[in-house]
Amino acid sequence: MKILVTGGTGYIGSHTVVELQQQGYDVVIVDNLSNSHAGVVDRIAEITGKRPEFYNFDLIDREKTKTFFEICKDISGIIHFAAYKAVGESMNNPLMYYRNNLDSLINILQGMQDNGISNLVFSSSCTVYGQPDELPVRETSPIKEAWSPYGNTKQMSEQILKFAVEAHSLKTIALRYFNPIGAHESALIGELPLGIPNNLVPFITQTAIGLRKSLSVFGSDYNTPDGTAIRDYIHVVDLAKAHVVAVDRMISGKTKLPFEIFNLGTGNGFSVLEVIQSFEKVSGGKLNYQIVDRRPGDVEKVWADTSFANEELGWKALKNLDEMMLSAWNWEKALANKK
Ligand code: NAD
Ligand code: UFG
Repeated sequence: MKILVTGGTGYIGSHTVVELQQQGYDVVIVDNLSNSHAGVVDRIAEITGKRPEFYNFDLIDREKTKTFFEICKDISGIIHFAAYKAVGESMNNPLMYYRNNLDSLINILQGMQDNGISNLVFSSSCTVYGQPDELPVRETSPIKEAWSPYGNTKQMSEQILKFAVEAHSLKTIALRYFNPIGAHESALIGELPLGIPNNLVPFITQTAIGLRKSLSVFGSDYNTPDGTAIRDYIHVVDLAKAHVVAVDRMISGKTKLPFEIFNLGTGNGFSVLEVIQSFEKVSGGKLNYQIVDRRPGDVEKVWADTSFANEELGWKALKNLDEMMLSAWNWEKALANKK
C-alpha cells in the first residue's frame, strides 16, 4: 500500500518514512525543501534499502498539487507533516504561517476529495491547548486561546478537518505532538533545520559541537521549580512509530470515529535546565549557555496525559530523556564527521 508523506524529508517525516517502509508500506514524499535537504532521501534509502519516491514542489501551489494527485495514483493514505513549525518565528511572520499551514492543508483535502482518498493523519501539536489550566493535559481539555500564530494554525487546521471530514466522508486522525527530539539510532537522519535552529535540542547540540557560541535559555522567572519552562520531550522514533499505528488503524477500519485525536508525549515534563543537565551527562561536557528574557509566544509548562493513546492505540513512548539526548548528540557528531 502506498502512503503519501508530505514534509517527508523533514525531521519527523523522515523518521516516519523509515518506520513505514520497514512495516512494508510504499512511500511517496512531497516536500519543497523549505526546511530540509534532498539528501535525506538517500539517507532513508541507506537505512531501509528502499528509495521512496520523491516530488519537490510547494503544496500551497494549487495547480501543482492537483497535477500531482492526477499523476500519482493508488494512494491509500496521507500523513500531512508539511508546515512551518517555529512558535517564535510565527510571532514575527504570522501571515507566512497562516498561508503555508492552511493553504497546504486545504490543497491536500481537495486532492483527497477529487481522487477518492479517505485516510489522513494530521500533524497537530500541543500548542492547540495554549497554557492549560490543568496538567497533564488531556485530549478533552479545553482548547484555549492560542499563544502564537503557529498554535492558531494548528487550532484552525483541526477545525477545518472537523468540518471537511463530516462533509466529505473522510477519516482523519490528528496527532497532537508534544516536543519531539533525538535522532534515528543509525545517526543517518535527525533534526537538521536550515539556518539557525529555533528548537532547543538542535541549538544545544550545535553549540556543543562549536557551530554556535552559546545557548540562550529563554526565561528563568517562570512559575516552575527551577524557573525555566517545562515541556514533554518525546523521542522522534517513538513518535514516528505512532504514525504507523495510526495508518494501520485507519486502513484496517479500526477507527471508532471519523475524526480522532490523540496526544503523543511521554507524560513527563522537563525544564530547559533539566534538558541541559541531561545533555551534559550523556555528552560528558559542559554546555555554554546564558539566561535571557522569555521568548514571546512560549507557554510556561505543558505535558501530556497519554493514557488515551496508550490504551486506544496500544502505543507507548519507550525512550527516556537521556536516550533522547544521546541520540541527538550522536547525530550531531556524525554530521560533523561528514564535513
Ligand atoms: P520540519 O520543518 O523538519 O519538516 C516539515 C517539512 O515540510 C520540511 O521538510 C519542509 O521543507 C516541508 N514543507 C513545509 N512547507 C511546505 C510546503 N508548503 N510544501 C511542501 N513542503 C513543505 O518539521 P517537523 O519537526 O518534522 O514537523 C513536522 C510537522 O509536525 C509540522 O506540521 C509541525 O508543525 C508538526 N509539529 C512539530 C513539532 C516539533 O517540535 N518538531 C511539534 C508538534 C507538531
Ligand atoms: N528554548 C530555549 N532556547 C532556545 C530554544 C528553545 O530556552 O534556543 C526553550 C523554549 O523557550 C521552550 C523550550 O526550550 O521553553 C522548547 O522550545 P522549542 O523551540 O524546542 O519548542 P516549542 O515548545 O517552542 O515548540 C515545539 C515545536 C512546535 C510544537 C511544539 C509542541 O517547535 O512546532 O514544540 O510543544 F508545536
